[in-house]
Amino acid sequence: MPDMLVRLYAMPAACEAVQRLKQDGITIRRPQPYECSVVRRFIEKNFSETWADETMTAFSHQPVTAYIAVDGQRIVGFAAYECTRKDYFGPTGVLPEYRKRGIGLALLQMSLQGLADLGYAYAVIGGAGPVDFYAKAVGAEVIENSVPGIYTAPLPEEAQE
Ligand SMILES: CC(C)(COP(=O)(O)OP(=O)(O)OC[C@H]1O[C@@H](n2cnc3c(N)ncnc32)[C@H](O)[C@@H]1OP(=O)(O)O)[C@@H](O)C(=O)NCCC(=O)NCCS
Repeated sequence: MPDMLVRLYAMPAACEAVQRLKQDGITIRRPQPYECSVVRRFIEKNFSETWADETMTAFSHQPVTAYIAVDGQRIVGFAAYECTRKDYFGPTGVLPEYRKRGIGLALLQMSLQGLADLGYAYAVIGGAGPVDFYAKAVGAEVIENSVPGIYTAPLPEEAQE
C-alpha cells in the first residue's frame, strides 16, 4: 500500500460534508480526552489493534488529533492524524453498514483541515489502502517508491512472552 500526497492549500472547506451528515443525525467531532478508552476499544473491535495503537497518539495532543463520527450514542467511524508520523493522515475507518454515505469523506476533510491548521502545506496519507477513494475525495496522488515506506512489520504476539 503506497503513501499518497495531498495539497492542503487547495482543499475545499470541510463544513459542507459535515453539515450534510448532521441533517442525517450523524455528528463529526473530536473525541474528548476522557473518551480515549472507548475509542480504542471501537477501533480494536472493528478494525485492528495496530490501528488502535496508532490512534492513541492522537490523545497525547491538545486538541486531540482525531475525529469520530457518532450516530446517537454509537461511534460509527474514526480518523486520526499527526499520529503515525508528523503530517500523516490515518488510520481511518467507517463501519461497513455506514459506508458510502459521506462519513469517510467528512472525517478525512476535517482531519486534513486539522493538519493545515498545524501549518503543513502538504499531507501524507500513510499506507493508503483505497487509493481511488483518496484520489477522488481530495485529489491525493500516489508517492512513487513509498512501499513499505515507514511501515515495518510490528513485533509478533510472542514478543510479549
Ligand atoms: C475507506 C472508507 C473509510 C471510506 O468511507 P466511506 O464512509 O464509505 O466513504 P464516503 O462515503 O465518504 O465516500 C466518498 C466517495 O468515495 C467513494 N469511495 C468510498 N470508498 C471507496 C473505495 N474503497 N474505493 C473507491 N471509491 C470509494 C464513494 O463512493 C464516494 O463517492 P461519491 O461521492 O461519488 O459517492 C471505508 O470504506 C472504510 O472504512 N474502509 C475500511 C478501512 C480502510 O480501508 N481504511 C483506509 C485505510 S488507509
